[in-house]
Amino acid sequence: MKSKETVAIVLAAGRGTRMKSETPKVLHTIFGKPIISYILDSLRGAGITRIITVAGYGSESLRKAIDTKVVIQKKLLGSGDAVLKAKKLLGAHSGNLIVICGDTPMVKSETIEKLVAKHEASGASATLTTIRLKDPLEYGRIVRSSSGKIVKIVEEIGASYTEKAIDEVNVGTYCFKAKDLFDALKDVQPDPRKKELFLTDTIGILNKLGKVVESVTITDADEMIGINSRKDLAEATRALKGKIIDGMMLSGVTVEDPLTTTIYPDAEIGRDTIIHPNTFIGPNVKIGKRCHIGPFARLTANVRVGRDVIVGNFVELVRTNIGDGCRVKHHTYLGDTTLGKKVNIGAGTITANYDGKNKNKTIVKDNAFIGVSSVLIAPITIGKNATVGAGCVVLRGRNVPDGKTVVGVPAKILEKRSGKARRESDEKRHINI
Ligand code: UD1
Ligand code: CA
Repeated sequence: MKSKETVAIVLAAGRGTRMKSETPKVLHTIFGKPIISYILDSLRGAGITRIITVAGYGSESLRKAIDTKVVIQKKLLGSGDAVLKAKKLLGAHSGNLIVICGDTPMVKSETIEKLVAKHEASGASATLTTIRLKDPLEYGRIVRSSSGKIVKIVEEIGASYTEKAIDEVNVGTYCFKAKDLFDALKDVQPDPRKKELFLTDTIGILNKLGKVVESVTITDADEMIGINSRKDLAEATRALKGKIIDGMMLSGVTVEDPLTTTIYPDAEIGRDTIIHPNTFIGPNVKIGKRCHIGPFARLTANVRVGRDVIVGNFVELVRTNIGDGCRVKHHTYLGDTTLGKKVNIGAGTITANYDGKNKNKTIVKDNAFIGVSSVLIAPITIGKNATVGAGCVVLRGRNVPDGKTVVGVPAKILEKRSGKARRESDEKRHINI
């Protein structure tokens, strides 16, 4: 794509009244990432780097959160007016102009690429993205002539009875010839009911001028989910979650119960790993092959899991690396921890990683065995082949050397006694009795 010739305007001035929030709508997050950043990533994924965002409500926080040029639309006088506000930053740009809504985070890079490709191939003045919906709701309807040519877009508010029955709607992602768009915008009159300049009115104007209007039609209704309320936010999160899990399954991961499983978009999971129900896999998590994760496991963030590992129920891991073949099967919290290979972590083991000021590290080396209900107070290192007895509290800095066993509270090294020493002590005990 000739990306240098394409500029994108992201419309994001709306307050999002229905969100009932102090935060501007497009800064609400899905999987920790602002809604608008999904659109910016999709644009960049399609090779478009010249981006202008039209901001209004909360423009200062928006400016801080994104790295595009920003223009301010003080009064919300409609999507057409918002585009006019970006004009001064466009200078002499005469190439493609994408206009996209900042509140539709699911629009894919491929859709933008297709849109621009079709626009360039057809030489149209405007190319729309459309979709057929069973329930066209409040979206702008695409009015076509009997030969299928696009005539205009009518908004729900101005649609006639028959127009309301049209099931092809405007997604809100467009590619224009910049000059033709601004010429048409000059002729747009404010909508008599909403008193706004509708960007969508330019389509009818271009058609009347004899200009070509083209379209690409998408089929995935999730792609056009627009965020207007918290309910829409949950809907978009659900849709994205479904896509991530579908991708995981296609790449050879079993997800037993997609409905109760959350996997962040950047997760990497190896083949033949099984994710059991009610598991949460947060940002920056990598899991190797043939693992079992969950049910009810929480890999909060920044976790590495090797191969053939079991992370069982009610286990929470954060900033933790787990070597191949480890077993962390039940009721455990490991924070800032590194496990070597084939470590066994008994049920109920807790790493006390936070001392009120700092997060401290726990290291457990290869083949170590941690008994049930142990507390490892960090910073602490448990050596190779070492054993921590059940119920131990291993104090900070009291590292357990390779091969040694510790028991008790606080944990002390259990010295292996020779046969003679043991007999003598047993005899003494006998005499004492
Ligand atoms: C708009 C389209 C509609 C389409 C739908 C898809 C118009 C007139 N209608 O309707 O055809 O089906 O999107 O989601 O464009 N905005 C500003 N400044 C304004 C007004 C709006 O920046 O003064 C921004 C909003 O923040 C939003 C976008 O423009 O990102 C669309 O505006 P919105 O009011 O949400 O339009 P819809 O009614 O959803
Ligand atoms: Ca909208």
